[in-house]
Amino acid sequence: MGGDDDLASVVRKLADEFTSVTAIPAEVRTAGAPRSLPAGSTRQLYRITQEALANVYRHSGASRCVIFADYRPDALVLAVEDDGRGFDQTATGGGHGLANMRERAVRMGGTFSLNSGPDRGTRIELAVPYGDAPPPLAAGPGP
Ligand SMILES: Nc1ncnc2c1ncn2[C@@H]1O[C@H](COP(=O)(O)OP(=O)(O)OP(=O)(O)O)[C@@H](O)[C@H]1O
Ligand SMILES: [Mg+2]
Repeated sequence: MGGDDDLASVVRKLADEFTSVTAIPAEVRTAGAPRSLPAGSTRQLYRITQEALANVYRHSGASRCVIFADYRPDALVLAVEDDGRGFDQTATGGGHGLANMRERAVRMGGTFSLNSGPDRGTRIELAVPYGDAPPPLAAGPGP
C-alpha cells in the first residue's frame, strides 16, 4: 500500500494532534482490511476529517469523539462522532464547513450524511468508493 492510501495513520495523526491541542480525547477505530483508494481521495478524507474535528472543537462542547474508518466490502465508510450538544439540522445558517464536506464526498463519487440533534451529539458519515478491483475473496465462482 502506498503512502497516499495509508488513511488510518493519517487519521490517527490528526486525532492525536486534535487531542493535544483541544484536550478532547479522540479515538480512532478501524474495521475491515485496508483497500486502496483513488488518487487524491486520502487527501480529501484528511480535509473532511479536519473540518469535522474543527466543528467538534468549536461547536460541540463534547467530552470525547470517535473517528471510524470502516473498510466495508462496497465502500470505505469514514465517520466522525461526538457526544456534544448537537444541533437542529433544520435550522439554516452556519458557515461552509458542512457544505464543503458534502461537496468533497460527492466529488469522490461518494455520499455524505449528517446525524445530529439537540443533546444527542453529532455524527457525520461518508462512504467513498475504492480505486481498485474487488478483493479476490469477493469474487465468486465464474459464470
Ligand atoms: N459537531 C457539532 N456539534 C454541534 N454543532 C455543530 C457541529 N458541527 C456543526 N454544528 C453546527 O452547524 C453549524 C454549521 O457548521 P459548518 O461547519 O457548516 O459552519 P461553521 O463551523 O459555523 O463555520 P465554518 O465551518 O465555515 O468555519 C455550526 O455553526 C454549528 O451551529
Ligand atoms: Mg465548521
